[in-house]
Amino acid sequence: MCGIVGYIGKRDVAPLLLEGLQRLEYRGYDSAGIAIHAKGTGKAAGGLKTAKAKGRVRELESRVPKRFAGTTGIAHTRWATHGAPTDENAHPHLDTEGKVAVVHNGIIDNASDLRARLTAEGVAFASETDTEVLSHLIGRSTAEKLEEKVREALRHIEGTYGIAVLHADFPDRIVVARNGSPVVLGIGEHEMFVSSDVAALVSHTRQVVTLDDGEMATLKADDYRTYTTEGSRTTSAPETVEYAAESYDLGGHDTYMHKEISEQADAVDRALRGRIDDRFSTVHLGGLNLDAREARGVRRVKILGCGTSYHAGQIGAQMIEELARIPSDAEPASEFRYRNPVVDPDTLYVAVSQSGETYDVLAAVQELKRKGARVLGLVNVVGSAIARETDGGIYVHAGPEVCVVSTKCFTNMVVSFALLALHLGRIRDLSVADGKRIIEGLRKLPAQIDEILETEADIKKMAELYADAKSMMFIGRVRGYPVAREASLKLKEVSYIHAEAYPASELKHGPLALIEPAMPTVAIVPDDDLLEKNRAALEEIKARSGRILAVAHQEQEKADHTIVVPKNEPELDPILMGIPLQLLAYHTALALGRDIDKPRNLAKSVTVE
Ligand code: F6R
Repeated sequence: MCGIVGYIGKRDVAPLLLEGLQRLEYRGYDSAGIAIHAKGTGKAAGGLKTAKAKGRVRELESRVPKRFAGTTGIAHTRWATHGAPTDENAHPHLDTEGKVAVVHNGIIDNASDLRARLTAEGVAFASETDTEVLSHLIGRSTAEKLEEKVREALRHIEGTYGIAVLHADFPDRIVVARNGSPVVLGIGEHEMFVSSDVAALVSHTRQVVTLDDGEMATLKADDYRTYTTEGSRTTSAPETVEYAAESYDLGGHDTYMHKEISEQADAVDRALRGRIDDRFSTVHLGGLNLDAREARGVRRVKILGCGTSYHAGQIGAQMIEELARIPSDAEPASEFRYRNPVVDPDTLYVAVSQSGETYDVLAAVQELKRKGARVLGLVNVVGSAIARETDGGIYVHAGPEVCVVSTKCFTNMVVSFALLALHLGRIRDLSVADGKRIIEGLRKLPAQIDEILETEADIKKMAELYADAKSMMFIGRVRGYPVAREASLKLKEVSYIHAEAYPASELKHGPLALIEPAMPTVAIVPDDDLLEKNRAALEEIKARSGRILAVAHQEQEKADHTIVVPKNEPELDPILMGIPLQLLAYHTALALGRDIDKPRNLAKSVTVE
């Protein structure tokens, strides 16, 4: 949510920053802006030049003149929190004299108090943003060095930030700081980068340093140094980013959503690689930091996540309960952290997140840790805040997910939960035979996913048939219910068709009143012990003239259309049943001409409450 990027070196900075912003646009796309040190040397440099635009980065591009020459600059792409998406509210924000430029990701909680104080001191504000207070505080600091000015200003700030700062009097450096919002340095040859995430860096360098909360850095063309906000030096050797630049490209697809749906067989293969232990019919999860004795002592599992990740957690909780026989449930992290929950020492908490940045999840983790709980992370982005804060965990290895709408990561999260369930199960009472059965099922997944993807042309036709719906119902039972919830979320966020999900068993307790030909139902109907009960729900819908699209292991007589998916082990079936519904959401959105990779009002990493 909001992306910052910066560069200092020898190259022409504006095109580099604009390219970086394109890469970060999934973090927010309400407005964008750029500030550079105009060409010149030393204190006599030409000062700062800025350009801003409401809307997408391409709008900004058209406002950056060719003469915008310079080799140092910062830029920002915004998801509006304080103030509407306008030119004025776009970052960078300047101080009154136009000497300081700040780009910021995060929220300054005490911005209104600071704004009132600064206004009383005669400062005129140019925007409605919280960030502008920071520019003025830095601009008004009498400290000598830029680092000290920034440090002094940050002492007044309550809230979260990832910032990059330019100062007209210090053209040889960019100063950056982190507290709660990610800041990654990219280490090049005689050039340095800074970004909210590696997506904007990898086409230039794969050597990165991820700042910790409370850390700052000074970037110069030929070196960088990191230190705490109190000024003590920190050590930070660069690490190599796992994925190459091509992993962040469209790779011949028209959208990232399509690319990411298509990559799922490989992604699942990666999640399994090196983890299966045939000898003991279990899996190795080296990063868990949970020995067998501790695992046996776990009395409950509580999974916390948001949105799609929460749905993956719901499936995960069922898997853990079924395979490890530990009572488990999932809860939206945002709800959990506000209800003063009982934190039980025998409960294993699992925080699940693609980005590893989602503020509500991070805050829940921090609260749990403060209360002495053991928290594992099930995270995609390596080295992200949630991965760092947790006591151990599982990387889901989905690879970079660029589309705002999560697909392959959801699948890999559910696969990772299956691994965790199997691991905990085999330490407890899951038999060798059942362990073997699940392993065989896991191994079948990549080929079965490809089999489903081959039916895309049929799913596209179905999407076109249902795209005229104003509203859709999604139903499933037990294992199928979270699948229905996730499919309903996918459809609404990418196509803007209203959709809701219900347990099939609840239909007759109310939602059946909505059923009519104009309200199609998507039903999850696996061939398991609830098959007959699911069929009864289809009868109830058909009797009210409802249209039905079933996702099932065999043609369903009562359904108008059935998407048949290959059968795996019942515990693993939810993994496969979600995939055709990702394609259904995709092709519905395509038929309706939606902006698939960047749905309205959304952003990929929700780093605000
Ligand atoms: C939906 C979607 C969101 C995210 C949610 C949590 O397609 O992507 O619902 O799942 O914002 O994000 P992470 O997983 O990054 O914590």
